[in-house]
Amino acid sequence: MDLSVQIGSLRLKNPLIAASGCFGYGLEYADVVDLSSLGAIVSKGLFLKPREGHPAPRIVETPAGMLNAIGLQGIGAQRFIDEKMPELRARAATVIVNVCGTTIDEYVEVSRMLADTEGVAAIELNISCPNIKEGGIQFGCSLDGTFAVVSAVRKVTKLPVIPKLTPNVTDVASFARAAEDAGADAVSLVNTFLAMVIDVETRTPKISNGVGGLSGPAIRPIAVRMVNECRQLVKIPVIGMGGIVDARDALEFIIAGANAVQIGTANFVDPFIWAKLLDGIRDYGQRHSIARIADLVGTVNR
Ligand SMILES: Cc1cc2nc3c(=O)[nH]c(=O)nc-3n(C[C@H](O)[C@H](O)[C@H](O)COP(=O)(O)O)c2cc1C
Repeated sequence: MDLSVQIGSLRLKNPLIAASGCFGYGLEYADVVDLSSLGAIVSKGLFLKPREGHPAPRIVETPAGMLNAIGLQGIGAQRFIDEKMPELRARAATVIVNVCGTTIDEYVEVSRMLADTEGVAAIELNISCPNIKEGGIQFGCSLDGTFAVVSAVRKVTKLPVIPKLTPNVTDVASFARAAEDAGADAVSLVNTFLAMVIDVETRTPKISNGVGGLSGPAIRPIAVRMVNECRQLVKIPVIGMGGIVDARDALEFIIAGANAVQIGTANFVDPFIWAKLLDGIRDYGQRHSIARIADLVGTVNR
């Protein structure tokens, strides 16, 4: 089975991508995963400057998922370029960088720096972090804001630009269209759902930020529906994610319309998931006589 997929000008050897914030800068997993065997890895979200994130506790387990409010802790764009990129290049990883900003100028500046960095394959624009006020969601929850960020970044790089959409809106597909109109090469979705968990004994939220983002299998059916809606409205590739834990889940997103998929929370449970996902997809291809994974995209019967 030919597993390669095309995302704008970027050819991935397979459709499996490590999701931002759940795979560090990639190197943290290098002892257990051959980074070059993945379609791509997406870095932790990066602002121009380093950020400490929220105080602990920052994560809590939920039924079939987890809630996090890390608060976009990160080392900043320059340190990533200087300290992480050389080893990622040496390991032949396909690197997509998750870019954050509090202003459009910051998105542009960080994207420009990365566009000049050897080995960066694409830019994922994080306009969807639900747990910090200035984390881009102010752009991602407005059609004009989405258009403005994407078109500004589009002007400063030839790299594929992939806005990451929030599910915390009524009509996610209209945001995919705004991104497409602004020149995005693809969209990725979903980021986490704004959620809350309360300790009833103390009557306080279980994470310090009060609210956080819900991820994991609990969100998967909603994410699949949203990917399918985007597939129907836009022509650009769609990268789907939300609660994928096995090959069937990944295939579900692909059949719904995702050209590639990202795996986030599952990495915390099973860092060896990647080989199992690839084996499961190959097995499905054989059983269903599918020569190219690309042929399966958006083939859901209605
Ligand atoms: C601990 C944690 C940190 C995350 N950090 C980021 C981030 O920095 N940037 C981003 O765009 N998404 C971030 N996400 C969202 C994931 O990339 C992904 O969109 C979401 O978790 C849904 O996929 P999943 O259910 O497979 O985890 C984070 C998620 C988790 C659980």
